[in-house]
Amino acid sequence: MFNKYFIKRILYYFYGEKFFKRFHYDWSNYPSRFEIIQKIIDKKKYENYLEIGCDKDSNFSKIKVKNKMGVDPLSGGNIKMTSDDFFKENKIYFDCIFIDGLHVYEQVKKDIFNSLKFLKDNGVIILHDCLPLKIWNQVVPQIYGHWNGDVWKALVEARTMKDIDTYTCKADHGLGIIFKRPNRNLLKVNISNFKKLKFKKYYIDHNFLMNIIEEEDLEKLLF
Ligand SMILES: C[S@@+](CC[C@H](N)C(=O)[O-])C[C@H]1O[C@@H](n2cnc3c(N)ncnc32)[C@H](O)[C@@H]1O
Repeated sequence: MFNKYFIKRILYYFYGEKFFKRFHYDWSNYPSRFEIIQKIIDKKKYENYLEIGCDKDSNFSKIKVKNKMGVDPLSGGNIKMTSDDFFKENKIYFDCIFIDGLHVYEQVKKDIFNSLKFLKDNGVIILHDCLPLKIWNQVVPQIYGHWNGDVWKALVEARTMKDIDTYTCKADHGLGIIFKRPNRNLLKVNISNFKKLKFKKYYIDHNFLMNIIEEEDLEKLLF
């Protein structure tokens, strides 16, 4: 039967980008976001954790840490507001911030900048859903059941900033990892509008655009 996105997908076939190759990562063979986040918290002896976008608390409830805050305007966490409103009022500094709220480039970029203001110097930002498998998963607004949004575009832009050090770990739909330290592998590209990046470019160049790493590499990068 037709689902609620059917008409929008038909329109996209005619008017949207036409590139239908896909990646074949089977995320069930990779570590989960929870495992990676907990490992980082434990290794770095972090105490203050913030999650933006909690939904059913599938991740938030599992994280073991001294202090945790979860921000979501609709469900889950322990603070019912948008990330923008939260950061307007917030005075707390965090060791680890997991950004998993509204998966749209402009909002993710705002969440990254606001998080950097409240991230301790030794801290880390983690972003969910950075590696969409096919074009449908990343079209904004959503036109497909499983939706990663265009978080990946914000990640590519972060890779061009010299004061932060950004990676994408092959795990759980792609975990962006941002350290507050000088960029160790600055991405030099001539892109004036990251929102306009095409899925085809991401598909062909994702290794260097996103600075892809395996979980094993992450341990070495933590210190
Ligand atoms: C993908 S879910 C989060 C999943 C959760 N982090 C996990 O790992 O299971 C996205 C959540 O972001 C929330 N959200 C949407 N817009 C937001 C915003 N502006 N600020 C904070 N959260 C937002 C939604 O209400 C939704 O619950």
